[in-house]
Amino acid sequence: MKTLVILISGRGSNMQALLNADLNVDRIIVISNNPQAEGLQIAQRQGVETYVVDHRNFKDRKDFDEVLAGKIAEFQPKLVALAGFMRILSDDFVHRYQGRLINIHPSLLPAFPGLATHDRALREGVKIHGCTVHFVTPQLDHGPIIIQAAVVVLPEDTETSLANRVLQQEHRIFPQAVRWFVDDQLKLTGDMVQIEINHTCMSQITLYSPGLTE
Ligand code: GAR
Repeated sequence: MKTLVILISGRGSNMQALLNADLNVDRIIVISNNPQAEGLQIAQRQGVETYVVDHRNFKDRKDFDEVLAGKIAEFQPKLVALAGFMRILSDDFVHRYQGRLINIHPSLLPAFPGLATHDRALREGVKIHGCTVHFVTPQLDHGPIIIQAAVVVLPEDTETSLANRVLQQEHRIFPQAVRWFVDDQLKLTGDMVQIEINHTCMSQITLYSPGLTE
């Protein structure tokens, strides 16, 4: 039984992209730390099992993470995908799931870890921005990179317009990364990720750059 656990905190558009992707898994579980997350209703409407572990019911991060890790363990997931999960996870949690825990982040890491990535990108005047899917390590928004997508920053861009263009790319690369993982096509050697199909290392495209070529 191949189970994918998706953790969300809010809107759930990346979760939706995963649900749309017709992935080779037997079961999908969505868990949120936020009972009000819009994504929970979206998942429920599509008949996906959802659970809430509300971080506000715990006295500290460690307690919350222990209960969350225990909840996830009930499903023995092949992969845990952080799809807009806006809680910092403790080292213990990350170590427990390391190698099967991936995150989507709205910047070209290692640039702009943390919050407000689009605003910071505009303020820095970067010409290229984008998004990254990576394996999670204890360091925030850091870890072996699986795939990235780049977009050109336009002179007229606002935080919203840039965020929208990046989000479109998130919805392409996140399902792609999850598909590679659940199909056993990702090989992690140290900090390097390779795409391997039938034991052959593929030179698959792991950088999408629509704005650079279109
Ligand atoms: C996405 O842009 C995702 O990359 C970001 O939160 C948003 C969630 O949107 N995640 C992070 O910033 C994690 N560091 P969504 O709920 O519509 O997928």
